[in-house]
Amino acid sequence: MPHIQFRLNGLETTVEADPDTLLLGVLRGALNMTGAHFGCGANECGACNVLVGDHAVAACDTPLWSVAGKDITTIEGLGSAQAPHPLQRAFIAEQALQCGYCVPGILMSAAALLRQNPAPTPKDVKAALDRNLCRCGSHNRMVRAVMKAAAELAAQ
Ligand code: FES
Ligand code: FES
Repeated sequence: MPHIQFRLNGLETTVEADPDTLLLGVLRGALNMTGAHFGCGANECGACNVLVGDHAVAACDTPLWSVAGKDITTIEGLGSAQAPHPLQRAFIAEQALQCGYCVPGILMSAAALLRQNPAPTPKDVKAALDRNLCRCGSHNRMVRAVMKAAAELAAQ
């Protein structure tokens, strides 16, 4: 079986697997990174989003071969309970979630936005989160939370 190497949350990582294996299964299985959630399995809900470089991608629709040599960041690498990312603090402050199932994917989409555009408008945030589904209807609070995190990051 081929070996595929990439950096996962800053750590050099090697996986022995079929190159066509989907990233989400490898993350949640062999690598025990269960923060990226399985929702639709068809690149339609965003629950499985991770960062590849500075871009949010659906891990359920990303073959391993395509991430060879790249930097992958999952929600586990964004922040921790001890040192939360400003986005995570803002989501808590704005109570921008209900069941929480969609939130890891939404945070990764928001993180990609802030890496590419540190001073987004609410319209930019809505566009960046447009492909993330939230069945609980927390979108408006989420947009406020992303704007709050952007302001905090800009002030640093
Ligand atoms: S589970 Fe990947 S986009 Fe829905
Ligand atoms: S908070 Fe429940 S699906 Fe978004």
